[in-house]
Amino acid sequence: QSKARITAIGSYIPERVLSNADLENIVDTNNEWIVQRTGMKERRITSENEFTSDLCIKAVKNLMQNYDKTVDDVDLIIVSTTTADFVFPSVACQLQETFKMKSTGAFDLNATCAGFTYGLHVANGLISSGLHKKILVIGGETLSKATDYTDRSTCVLFGDGAGAVLVEYDEENPSFISSVLGTNGEGGIHLYRSGLSKEMNGMKLLGDGNMVQNGREVYKWAVRSVPIGLQTLLEKAHLRTEDIDWFVPHSANLRMIESICEKSHISMDNTLYSVKKMGNTSSASIPLALDLGIKEQKLHYGDTVVLYGFGGGLTYTGIIIKW
Ligand code: ACO
Repeated sequence: QSKARITAIGSYIPERVLSNADLENIVDTNNEWIVQRTGMKERRITSENEFTSDLCIKAVKNLMQNYDKTVDDVDLIIVSTTTADFVFPSVACQLQETFKMKSTGAFDLNATCAGFTYGLHVANGLISSGLHKKILVIGGETLSKATDYTDRSTCVLFGDGAGAVLVEYDEENPSFISSVLGTNGEGGIHLYRSGLSKEMNGMKLLGDGNMVQNGREVYKWAVRSVPIGLQTLLEKAHLRTEDIDWFVPHSANLRMIESICEKSHISMDNTLYSVKKMGNTSSASIPLALDLGIKEQKLHYGDTVVLYGFGGGLTYTGIIIKW
């Protein structure tokens, strides 16, 4: 039984716009190809001196301002990112330094595009078990800094941004209904960024520290596995698709989302995404889509919402919440 509620949300995207027309000047691509295959029109990217911690700090400030919240008494900071400023210290520690919480734990987690929903799952568990009272969960990425802008098959996809939520103890009115997690480590080779090792399962890694993907394989995996995971999640909660007000999948690619929705019998009108104007922002894509949904007055208090993150690992998390 959950005892945790999401009480506030904020977001931030960098000012610099990278449009499809801009990409036409960088690689051999064109607006039609990008829109037809991905639904993306533009994405935001950071300047040279702007990093993931900067985006996360601005997302938290936005949350505090929008909901008149303080973070002084936050007792845990969880930042989901694959593009931290440093290997260590973590972005979460940088946030503590900025906001000066007196007594808080802080760590980054890496579950790629499923990271934000992993963070929510962990926060709900820690609050519901009585270990924590007030947790900041943030998804923040500067993927443009790990993108090879000579590789047209990846550089058109990714953008930068951050989204933050506050999860607080609330026994009377909890947000969390149900969640599922799943992993397919065998598929890790289809989407990676090399680190200390330059080999995976005996295969030489490419990209020189930038993201590398077999787009077709990732696409097939997501479109096949997300509808199955979604069904499991709904059954676990004794809900039907008709009971869901909003579906918020990871904004990897609009065509992928359309295909998942079609297979799952969910209308695109009941789906929130950030992909058209922000590209694929990995961990940040779900909170960015939620915040857009609020700004566009679609998402309301009490709505039943399914969040579904999936990505490199390969790994996924689905969560059903009451907004
Ligand atoms: N502009 C023009 N042509 C291009 C471009 C481009 N930007 N990129 C590739 N092409 C060409 C290819 O060279 C190929 O040409 P060829 O047939 O002459 O060889 C052709 O277009 C088709 O290429 P495919 O890679 O087969 O295209 P596909 O239809 O699979 O679409 C895409 C590619 C959009 C990348 C798709 O596979 C996809 O979205 N995959 C999922 C990617 C994803 O979401 N990854 C992230 C997961 S989340 C995370 O954890 C970060």
